[in-house]
Amino acid sequence: MTDNQFQTRSVTPTKSLRGEIFVPGDKSISHRSIMFGSLAEGTTRVSGFLMGEDNLSTWQAFETMGVNIRQTGPDALEIEGVGLDGLVEPGNVLDCGNSGTTMRLMSGLMAGQNFFSVLTGDKYLRRRPMKRVVTPLAAMGARIWGRDGGERAPLAIQGGSLKPITYASPVASAQVKSAVLLAGLSVDGETRVTEPHLSRDHSERMLTYFGADVRPFAGGVSLTGRPRLMAQDVIVPGDVSSAAFFMVAGLITPGAELTIRNVGINPTRSGIIDILIAMGGQLELLNIREQSGEPVADVLVRHSRLKGIEISGDMVPRAIDEFPVISVAAALAEGTTTIRDAEELRVKETDRIAAMVSELGKLGAQVEARPDGMIITGVEQLNGGKVTSHGDHRIAMSMAVAALCARAEVTIVDTECTETSFPGFWALLDKISGSL
Ligand code: S3P
Repeated sequence: MTDNQFQTRSVTPTKSLRGEIFVPGDKSISHRSIMFGSLAEGTTRVSGFLMGEDNLSTWQAFETMGVNIRQTGPDALEIEGVGLDGLVEPGNVLDCGNSGTTMRLMSGLMAGQNFFSVLTGDKYLRRRPMKRVVTPLAAMGARIWGRDGGERAPLAIQGGSLKPITYASPVASAQVKSAVLLAGLSVDGETRVTEPHLSRDHSERMLTYFGADVRPFAGGVSLTGRPRLMAQDVIVPGDVSSAAFFMVAGLITPGAELTIRNVGINPTRSGIIDILIAMGGQLELLNIREQSGEPVADVLVRHSRLKGIEISGDMVPRAIDEFPVISVAAALAEGTTTIRDAEELRVKETDRIAAMVSELGKLGAQVEARPDGMIITGVEQLNGGKVTSHGDHRIAMSMAVAALCARAEVTIVDTECTETSFPGFWALLDKISGSL
């Protein structure tokens, strides 16, 4: 269905949620598999790759810079690495679509390349802050221009020889950290980044896996420049951020019992599991193992009575993408949940604090905005109604989860955005909730 120009989806309350599912590959790891596979020597084989729009933007960008990438299966790729100095100047603007990770990590990489490039994106990405990467890259000697004094894309980058720096990032952001590390790849010497709390460490893990010398230290990480990256086989685990929707769905649906197979549980990403357990959720990690340098498990979820908790400090970056769906869990928990230190939510694909306050509020939830978070008091049940995603994939999917236990049907407007991170979400939801 469409609502003017927007695709809409209606979700009816479900009676059951049982079975076993797989979620698509991890978005962050999929991006990095293309980036490091391209910069390595030899052929990197990737399986479990997320064929979401964000990752296709990264794929397209590397093809534009002369990298040969072949699809070899529904979620499998082969990347012919060109080595650290093998990229060619893109003959066109690189379109990062909706993907902040593509734009910010590529800025770092482009800064160290001896050529000119321009990065742009969709209307949402062109509103998001870019100075957080422009500032450290300029300090390394890159020449970068953007609208609003370098704050907004399009970004134009004249790369070249950079100098190593120690950068104290004011935000806990894996995109900032990774941008500096990617620039550091081209530099002779050691590049160091510190951050106020540890953000996701997929770049560090995958660079190490490809042979770089990456050393974590208290509060930060260092990288020795000009490494020889060697092609690897990369098995991408299921995305914990996608699994999160089904974890919360399982916890809030009476009688539910769900197993989500093959989920990445990297400790810098698994805040959602700790938060839901602290709320009283019955979640069990089974069959814990390691794949391509990343920890993986199956997650068993059972319907649970949830209670409100406080979430702040270093828990925030560990669950940064999950706050929309955490707010759904909190809206149905007993008592109050307070989320603090989460001002970063305001500069995601949309302002996720404003969006969840407005959309959950339309269904009768008690959610109050704070400059750096939300205060949510649980209610017995949500109402049906009509809500919008604000063009943000995680808001759309969170509202679909909220709908599962509402009193009546919920219509969600602007749902195409789920393709950025979770192709097949609606079919999987239909299948598991018994509507198919
Ligand atoms: C990502 C880092 C996080 C996260 C985003 C993916 C990454 O962003 O929200 O979805 O792959 O590095 P920030 O670095 O802005 O926190």
